[in-house]
Amino acid sequence: MNPWMITIDGPAGVGKSTVARMLAQKLGAVFLDTGATYRAVTLAAMQANIDLTNPLAVLEVMDDTEFAFFHEDDKLKVVIDGQDATMTLRLPQVTEKVKYIASQPKLRAELVRLQQDFAAQFEKVVTEGRDQGTIVFPNAEFKFFLTADPQERAHRRHEELKAAGKEVDFETLNRQIVERDASDINRTVGPLKPAADAIVIDTTTIDAQTVVNKMLGIIKTKDKSD
Ligand code: DC
Repeated sequence: MNPWMITIDGPAGVGKSTVARMLAQKLGAVFLDTGATYRAVTLAAMQANIDLTNPLAVLEVMDDTEFAFFHEDDKLKVVIDGQDATMTLRLPQVTEKVKYIASQPKLRAELVRLQQDFAAQFEKVVTEGRDQGTIVFPNAEFKFFLTADPQERAHRRHEELKAAGKEVDFETLNRQIVERDASDINRTVGPLKPAADAIVIDTTTIDAQTVVNKMLGIIKTKDKSD
């Protein structure tokens, strides 16, 4: 196991990526956004024009595709068959279809392995997703689970998109958050839930920096007592 494995899990829009990136920077660790691995497979399958609900067809695409994940400038860069796909992965068309990949046990098993292999290359890793503390890195030294009121998560997404010059109706974002929560919580493999030994932080009324400070405080305390 990596000497410094920190997992951050939680629902869509809770701010996991922001917090994980900030924490990784503070600790000189590598940041792994595991949602990007699910998105990469989804995008490759979409580009191959196959039936996304057929896991065997998706596995074939995975075998035939070259995925590369790099840690570059504090970001996870994703290259699919030599093409930079980092931004394309975030398109709403991809977000909508990830559930077909995320709900398939065989595909999840492949992605869990990929995430473990990626992390094994580094000394210090901060990873974020839905199942990092429960399934992928059950022996991680520090486990956090972020929560926030769904309306507040939709509000944050709304602000983020507005800042990027994209006007999306608040009710649509709210509905998407509720739908993604249901799909994340109810899937039978790798569902969204806190690990028994995770520290749960409600971020509804606190900003990302405050969350990171809380985490650093917990990490320092535990580190000293070892
Ligand atoms: O964090 P994100 O929104 O980029 O994740 C995209 C999708 O991938 C999300 O709908 C659920 C899925 N996912 C997952 O099932 N397990 C993970 N560890 C990370 C993401």
